[in-house]
Amino acid sequence: MHRRITAPGALAAASLLLAIPASAASHSPGAPGIGDPYYPAYGNGGYDVSHYDLRLKYQPVTDRLEGTATLLARTTEDLSRFNLDFLLDVSEVRVNGAPARFRASGEHELEITPKTPLGKGTAVTVVVRYSGVPSQQQAYGFTSWHRTPDGGVAANEPEAAWWWFPSNDHPLDKATYDVSVQVPDGTQAISNGTLQSTSSRLGWTRYNWRSNKPQATYLATLAVGRFDVTTGRTESGIPVINAYSKDLGDNYGAARASVERTGEIADWLTEYFGPYPYNALGGYVPNVGTGYALETQTRPFYSPRQFANGANTSVVVHELAHQWYGDSVSVAAWRDIWINEGFARYAQWLWSEHEGEGTAQEIADYVYASRPADDPFWTVKPGDPGPERQFDIAVYDRGALALQALRNEIGDEDFFTLLKGWPQRYAHGNATVADFRRYAEEVSGKPLAALFDTWLYQPSKPSVTAARDASI
Ligand code: ARG
Ligand code: ZN
Repeated sequence: MHRRITAPGALAAASLLLAIPASAASHSPGAPGIGDPYYPAYGNGGYDVSHYDLRLKYQPVTDRLEGTATLLARTTEDLSRFNLDFLLDVSEVRVNGAPARFRASGEHELEITPKTPLGKGTAVTVVVRYSGVPSQQQAYGFTSWHRTPDGGVAANEPEAAWWWFPSNDHPLDKATYDVSVQVPDGTQAISNGTLQSTSSRLGWTRYNWRSNKPQATYLATLAVGRFDVTTGRTESGIPVINAYSKDLGDNYGAARASVERTGEIADWLTEYFGPYPYNALGGYVPNVGTGYALETQTRPFYSPRQFANGANTSVVVHELAHQWYGDSVSVAAWRDIWINEGFARYAQWLWSEHEGEGTAQEIADYVYASRPADDPFWTVKPGDPGPERQFDIAVYDRGALALQALRNEIGDEDFFTLLKGWPQRYAHGNATVADFRRYAEEVSGKPLAALFDTWLYQPSKPSVTAARDASI
């Protein structure tokens, strides 16, 4: 249950004002959104989280999740109160040890009022005790918590965290994570990073996961279920942990034949993108009905549907490419989604070439030719698709066409220098489409505004001349 703050009457408010020390009067509420143009309520203002410690217990039979989140943060403004994004029921909040008032507001806001206002630059520890049935929670009419016959999974983009931990839910505020989850013996809990340890008592097994590099909230994942777990190492020595639901039926073989190649594919990607940004690797395939995969950090989420036609290494390439393009270098705002999806798609084209199944140029020619000028595909602007079209096929395919056009404009040497340089330049940070254009101009020494405008910002099919100039 959320405790409600009773609004003070006018008289009480007046006397309250008198009681507030002069210094505190300048403190104001943190904004309920971080300022994303597509999603104004996502994330929050006034503070920055550096670490999430989640200590949880999940019962698959009832889909009940409970536990404690401890957030380490620092204020960036003088704050009288601040928000987190969250949907489950909160029973207690403490700020720097003292009980704090809190209430639910909006679609997914948890408003927290500390006992004493927080000055700018203060180190803050927020402890939130909570419980709930994630599958019963919706925001804006949907849920990102997927129940499975033997558990549940949190994986979606851009929204996933609200169903399992309170957060500052925007890629601009990355943090490290310790995720410790107790599940019934015989069941596994899968999350990001390395498995530090497991322990068992009283019929429950605890899994302690650690993700020790900055991680965006939507890239944090939790999956509980009955999995077959495989372990190994990449040639370069990075530990790999993969997990396959025991319940994948006919898709089991193809899922495993694909995701077991994670280490090999990550090593192949380093030739194009430079060193792998993390110290753990893997993938997991729960028994969910969703159609998409997701680049959850270090350990992508795959849905069984991706493997319905046999092995699909292309989707593995896509999600692993995101570890550089999306996870390490993240969008500054959600409208910058092309810096994720355009590149992850282009990596699939490079893989096709590697596998002898068609070169990037051949695929680009095919995509360009197979979409007539009146195809709504061309009305989507990959550089600013709008929230409804954020994951439109055009962001991916036209987005990769833009990269082929860029490659032809600046030549292979500069293009591949760029592909490798970008994940270094903005490692573990955030960037915009304009940052990428500027970087491309810097590397190539060419003005590229017109090319970017044609391929990313016009709601129409680039002319045959533009395509010929780009050798498409
Ligand atoms: N980044 C994911 C991928 O390309 C896409 C997730 C799409 N999300 C969704 N709810 N459809 O692999
Ligand atoms: Zn993607």
